[in-house]
Amino acid sequence: MNRRAILAVLGLAIALSAGMLGWSLRSAGSGVDPASGKAWTVPDVDTLPDSPVGRSVRQGRELVIHTARLIGPQAADPARRFAGNNLNCQSCHIAAGTKQFGLPLVGAYADFPNYRAREGRIGTIEERVNGCMARSMNGRALPSDSPEMTAIVAYLRFLSSGTARGAKTFGRGAGKMDELTRAADPVRGGRVFTQSCAGCHGLDGQGLRAQAGDQAPGYVYPPLWGPDSFNSGAGMARLITAANFIRANMPHGTTWKAPMLSLEDAWDVAAFINSQSRPQMQGLEADYPVRSEKPLDAPFGPYADSFSAQQHKYGPFAPMRAGKGEKR
Ligand code: HEC
Ligand code: HEC
Repeated sequence: MNRRAILAVLGLAIALSAGMLGWSLRSAGSGVDPASGKAWTVPDVDTLPDSPVGRSVRQGRELVIHTARLIGPQAADPARRFAGNNLNCQSCHIAAGTKQFGLPLVGAYADFPNYRAREGRIGTIEERVNGCMARSMNGRALPSDSPEMTAIVAYLRFLSSGTARGAKTFGRGAGKMDELTRAADPVRGGRVFTQSCAGCHGLDGQGLRAQAGDQAPGYVYPPLWGPDSFNSGAGMARLITAANFIRANMPHGTTWKAPMLSLEDAWDVAAFINSQSRPQMQGLEADYPVRSEKPLDAPFGPYADSFSAQQHKYGPFAPMRAGKGEKR
């Protein structure tokens, strides 16, 4: 069979299994995988029946969208306060985790369990969620058997309907734009911030609360640093992750196909944000027990090479890759 025929059969198989389970795929309207020609599609939660599974998946989506209200520091029931800040999963996993290169959650479940360099061992999807709970949400782990974890995993599993086990879905992560040959410049990035970001996130980067006062859960515009932000161990605290996320998604509404910021502006503004103060996570030196697997932009030591902490934080990364004999 040629490739087109294989894709057609695959598409039919997905459509059939979807039909049997009672949901359908919706085309999310963005880019096509240049390698396979496959369009970006997202299983449509709204077409699920009002069954126990359907309800659990919907509850999981609610938790991803309204994390602060449901399990944040101001959640009605003190026993359900797991997140340590008032971000939502959706603050970073844009559109409830359905946006291409908006750190989507589509396809993630199918890729777990997998080897986690940060822990140096195989990790489950529950452990991955709790990685974000401890770092991005600066909070504590959701017990594996809690109704919240069960629902989030049901949602993640649904978002991987039709994704083959172990497949690396095109559009996952935040992208991989070209790097600068110089170090990213936080001072220049500060000017980009004032011009392109402060209108929503505030000149002080503290965002805009959903309601007046500090007691309301959630934000209209989330904070980018300070006590209610992601902590120093979060993926977003790494320059390469932040710069790609920002270029593909910010100002809010931007898509990876039509970025609004220049490469330089994206790298520099990410450097500016990650130069500000944020909650410090303890014990980070234990991350990446196999040091050679540590991402170049991890903003904390120890490192396997002799490049400065400053260069790991701001780049340029090409000389560091050359030292490791690594390609991008
Ligand atoms: C401050 C930003 C931020 C917030 C908030 C956040 N995450 Fe994440 N999350 C990330 C980053 C960055 C990654 C790493 C993506 C990568 O590896 O390319 C990630 C990865 C993940 C993954 C693995 C995705 C994959 O493709 O393998 C899952 C699952 C996940 N997060 C779930 C959650 C859940 C559930 C919440 C809310 C409880 C949450 N995250 C909150 C930034 C965030
Ligand atoms: C039009 C308003 C708007 C503008 C302008 C904007 N953002 Fe955002 N940003 C948002 C919203 C809203 C979210 C949360 C995503 C969601 O809920 O859909 C967000 C999320 C983020 C996040 C991840 C969440 C967090 O709290 O860390 C980062 C990082 C970010 N923005 C950086 C930037 C940068 C840098 C710029 C300027 C280049 C920028 N944003 C411009 C509205 C905006």
